Amino acid sequence: MSRQYYIAGNWKMHKTRAEAAELAKTLVSQLKDGKHKYLVAPSFTSLETVAAIVKGSNILLGAQNVAAEEQGAHTGEVSVLQLKDLGVQVVILGHSERRHTYKEDDALINKKVKLALKHGFDVILCIGETLEEREAGQAEVVCESQTLWGLSSVSATDLAKVTIAYEPVWAIGTGKTASPEDAEAIHAYIRKVIARLYGEDAAQKLVIQYGGSVKPDNAAQLMDKENIDGALVGGAALKPDTFVPIAKFA
Ligand code: 13P
Repeated sequence: MSRQYYIAGNWKMHKTRAEAAELAKTLVSQLKDGKHKYLVAPSFTSLETVAAIVKGSNILLGAQNVAAEEQGAHTGEVSVLQLKDLGVQVVILGHSERRHTYKEDDALINKKVKLALKHGFDVILCIGETLEEREAGQAEVVCESQTLWGLSSVSATDLAKVTIAYEPVWAIGTGKTASPEDAEAIHAYIRKVIARLYGEDAAQKLVIQYGGSVKPDNAAQLMDKENIDGALVGGAALKPDTFVPIAKFA
């Protein structure tokens, strides 16, 4: 089964509106003949600006998080309704920075996943083990548990709107990429977990991105692996010079 490659840029807490607009405009022009599926996820403050630029292009608009509640007294949070109003199509959930720095647990992440799906968003669910967990031989167990929790009560129909991003915590922003073989092993394992839960057909259709120090010079080797279907890119997504070659990897 052939899955479409899906390359996403997570801009994290970078860029003013003017800077985000400049990057988005360049990407729209340089990726217009790109063959894969593309997404950019700017900060909340730049979503409206970037929405107007990517509208009608082959680049989807993503948010980096969303509140677990629809609306109400939740100071500092952003709701699904507000994101929908801005034209956001995809929400990234369970990012390791949300899990580890901001202490989001699996139950909260699952609540967000279900709410986002209910409101018609596509979801990128991030999973990944810490260095300590990897060294203790726990990488598969941790990734399986985060997957099971994240997708708890998600229907087979809704699974079609979910992408999983395997982002080993020790590879994020560190310049240390997982070897293509190590990444492939976890991707294949996750696909087996999905097959057990949703059946082989759904598992074969699931897109699993790799994230963690993806760069122009390692993107092709990673995506050459059978179960690596794309990339969730952080640092290298902030400049066209580094993101475009990843997005157009051959
Ligand atoms: P880096 O590409 O900077 O390692 O970040 C990866 C990431 O966290 C994407 O969500």
